[in-house]
Amino acid sequence: MEPVLGLLLLLLTLAHASPDPPEPCVLDEESVQCSCNFSDPEPDWSYAFLCTGAQDVEFYGGGRSLEHFLKRVNTEADPGQFADVVRSLPWQRLTVGDARVPAQMLFGVLRMLGYSRLKELTLENLEVTGTTRPLLEATGPDLNTLSLSNVSWATGDAWLAELQQWLKPGLKVLKIAQTHSLNFSCEQIQVFPALVTLDLSDNPELGERGLISALCPSKFPALQVLVLRNAGVETPSGVCSALAVAGVQLEGLDLSHNLLRDTAGAPGCDWPSKLNSLNLSFTELEHVPKGLPAKLSVLDLSYNRLDRKPRPDELPKVDKLLLKGNPFSNPEPHSGEYDSGVVTAPVHLSLAVSVSGTLAVLQGTGLFA
Ligand SMILES: *[C@@H]1O[C@H](CO)[C@@H](O)[C@H](O)[C@H]1NC(C)=O
Ligand SMILES: *[C@@H]1O[C@H](CO)[C@@H](O)[C@H](O)[C@H]1NC(C)=O
Ligand SMILES: *[C@@H]1O[C@H](CO)[C@@H](O)[C@H](O)[C@H]1NC(C)=O
Ligand SMILES: *[C@@H]1O[C@H](CO)[C@@H](O)[C@H](O)[C@H]1NC(C)=O
Repeated sequence: MEPVLGLLLLLLTLAHASPDPPEPCVLDEESVQCSCNFSDPEPDWSYAFLCTGAQDVEFYGGGRSLEHFLKRVNTEADPGQFADVVRSLPWQRLTVGDARVPAQMLFGVLRMLGYSRLKELTLENLEVTGTTRPLLEATGPDLNTLSLSNVSWATGDAWLAELQQWLKPGLKVLKIAQTHSLNFSCEQIQVFPALVTLDLSDNPELGERGLISALCPSKFPALQVLVLRNAGVETPSGVCSALAVAGVQLEGLDLSHNLLRDTAGAPGCDWPSKLNSLNLSFTELEHVPKGLPAKLSVLDLSYNRLDRKPRPDELPKVDKLLLKGNPFSNPEPHSGEYDSGVVTAPVHLSLAVSVSGTLAVLQGTGLFA
């Protein structure tokens, strides 16, 4: 039998006395949020009990290694004996961070959480060491959202496939930031049948080429939104090609906070037919890039370096165009549905001018001191 090893189990069962360090856990007044930071060299883990009645729970390990705990827990214990305790936890969102954890222990936690009602799990600043034997049946939590930030894995490119075994298949949102490998071993990954949003933001090394290996073909059949903020993307058309290779059908694509070049892209790339929202804000664009989808509901070009208002022939057919925060600011009269983002600024401006003008007038008449 797979040994039952878990940080969770430890946090619930370990208790040892220590002098009087600052209390590591804080529960808010409504008993909704509870956060523990075990950064003390000799932390008192029993404080974790404080969090058993909270819904949003955070455990930070102070950067320590939890490997020595492996020797101290009963590897013969049946997870079922803790099932009732775990079932009674009202935890909905759990964050675990700042530690070096053996994979066996991390997956022990996920197995225990299989009895919980947890919906969101965040792992951050973790180094996962070692590996585990493959599983026959997934017994982990039924998560809606899984977020990983700066998590490194001893299993290298196979990490997502390994982690996936411990999750029930209903995952809708997957976020992976600051990772060391998005070059997934696609043949080992199973289909994510319900995944709607994939967020690979804050992976500046990714780029269009990395995207091709990250978007394992036919593993994300329900994907609707791809978020690639600050992901080393250079051209929208390069992303178009990667999407075409992966056969991904998207509705929303966020390329904001990349340093985009506005060169014409690979000719003949067909964007996903359902794509209706494209975010190109904060991308230092000086011109509207060529080769964008022909028709969009929303195009966000705000906070770029456009020094003139784009002409309609440079733009896709778009219902809502966002252009605020660009250098061109000369207020133009409202001339069509596509510049709704432009007109708001001058309206506010003139309103502000007239309000302060009114005040100046009133001051002049002596009504205001
Ligand atoms: C935990 O406490 C340490 C030491 O006080 C601090 O450096 C660290 O930022 C804290 N971590 C979190 C997540 O608050
Ligand atoms: C990433 O996580 C490691 C622990 O695995 C930590 O030492 C490092 O400081 C973290 N990096 C950042 C940028 O937080
Ligand atoms: C990605 O993985 C494949 C094998 O799965 C390997 O051939 C390739 O060199 C890897 N690419 C990078 C950038 O590590
Ligand atoms: C586009 O991205 C920026 C920055 O990431 C965000 O603030 C903005 O709300 C997004 N625009 C739309 C239309 O969602």
